[in-house]
Amino acid sequence: MSQPRAEPAPAVVQGFPEPVGDAPGPGLIEGSLDPAAMVIFGASGDLTGRKLVPALYSLFCHGGLPEPFVILGCARSRFSDDAWRQKMRRAVAGHGGLDLTAWDRFAARLFYQPLVYDQPGTYRELRRRLQELEDGHGTGGNRVFNLAIPPGLYSEVVSLVGRAGMSAEGPGGSPWRRLVVEKPFGRDLASARELSKAIAAGFQEHQVFRIDHYLAKETVQNVLILRFANAIFEPIWNRNYIDQVTIIAAESLGVEHRAGYYEQAGVLRDMFQNHMMQLLALAAMEPPPRYGAEPVRDEKTKLFRSLRPYPATNAGDYLVLGQYTAGQVDGRPVAAYRDEPGVDPASLTPTFALLKVMVDNWRWQGVPFFLVSGKRLARKVTRMLIQFKEVPHCFFRQVLGEHITANRLVLGIQPDETTSLTIQTKSPGARLGLRSVKMVFDYNADYRGPLLGAYEKALLNCMQGDQMLFWRQDGLELTWGLLDPVLHACERCQDRDQQLQPYAAGGWGPEAARRLLSLWPEAAK
Ligand code: BG6
Repeated sequence: MSQPRAEPAPAVVQGFPEPVGDAPGPGLIEGSLDPAAMVIFGASGDLTGRKLVPALYSLFCHGGLPEPFVILGCARSRFSDDAWRQKMRRAVAGHGGLDLTAWDRFAARLFYQPLVYDQPGTYRELRRRLQELEDGHGTGGNRVFNLAIPPGLYSEVVSLVGRAGMSAEGPGGSPWRRLVVEKPFGRDLASARELSKAIAAGFQEHQVFRIDHYLAKETVQNVLILRFANAIFEPIWNRNYIDQVTIIAAESLGVEHRAGYYEQAGVLRDMFQNHMMQLLALAAMEPPPRYGAEPVRDEKTKLFRSLRPYPATNAGDYLVLGQYTAGQVDGRPVAAYRDEPGVDPASLTPTFALLKVMVDNWRWQGVPFFLVSGKRLARKVTRMLIQFKEVPHCFFRQVLGEHITANRLVLGIQPDETTSLTIQTKSPGARLGLRSVKMVFDYNADYRGPLLGAYEKALLNCMQGDQMLFWRQDGLELTWGLLDPVLHACERCQDRDQQLQPYAAGGWGPEAARRLLSLWPEAAK
């Protein structure tokens, strides 16, 4: 047996656990980044201005971009380099919170090349321009292609990039070529496979980075650390001690300006196939043999394989769907989903879902996992709630006549980044009584290092060639395979309109959710 090691005295903070020492956190990057060029398809679009370029600029300000690095924007619009720089400057300025003092140095790396997405000839021009920039700046031929375009264009653009000879890597993977793909990765199993085939014509799996921004959230990454860097949790992380698990991603926002996309997607495609499945995998997977993209993704795949398939009938046993009606959020009136701009007034698109998932493996047999997500709920809260079983025998009961509340561990993902454990203690005082108390750990307590947004972290990891935070195709196919019958039950059944329960915006979703999950909505509060 190994001897306990002498550790530095922990600094005392309120609650638990006490951070050891000053915990300044590591620097932004371990090792150095290879020089590279990034090509952004969809450079005049919303995603580029709202997320991509602000994230790249922020990385640049944190010293998180390679040196040298160039960004070549492409889209149908005809911009000069300067006009595109101006457009991006306005986008970054409008982003808020970003200091533009380093802008000129960053902007000197931005270039623009018009491209017609379905014309092979324009890809040859793109290739020439890219080569010229690479030679001029010495980026060595390493490339990231970023698809900030509507998903309907993915297959064509990727295959034309491949046909123009821009995607093949050099011998031994040097120079490297990578592809960043945004969700949705298809809209069902068949289309996910088709997309994969189109991508595979130009890129191999190790070159493909399918973004799921939830995976890049600090507190989401913390789930594996909490589970596997502490000896005390793993022995009880199973059906012997855990009664049920609830994973919640509630939003107070509505569909905003994205009706065109959301009407086709609905909450199951928008949140469940991707973010909710990843959260489920992190909560339920087995420990990988080592920390690395492949071993971790192998374990996730194994978990996805263990998810119990849904029957074609009796959807009510495992699924509740809802759609928001008019209501109040944060004290202001908000419209019903059907009255949002761009939404069909008779829309049957679900904006809320509760899905019960069973995991058929040794660890989890009989433990239900409830996944809940919805728009226009009372507030934004993402968390995992691990509900432990009640004590097996309560010898206090005769004395106290009280119910003994079971332990509960809550992993707060956002906006509340705390982990809390509810335990029972004696009430102070002469009378013997119980009270539930919470031990709370604030994730950011005593940390003073740089923090990256999820999108920045994902881009940085792509440039580092680390696929840990990205979807692998096998996982995608398994989760689509699981959800296909659910989507079928929701979209093609006779009584589709009756399955969809209305709920008032600003509340906690349809009443029926409580029937399937007795902890709802208490679990979100
Ligand atoms: C996106 C969905 O993937 O995630 C949006 O398309 C949703 O509908 C968003 O609002 C939620 O992300 P976050 O980071 O705000 O929880």
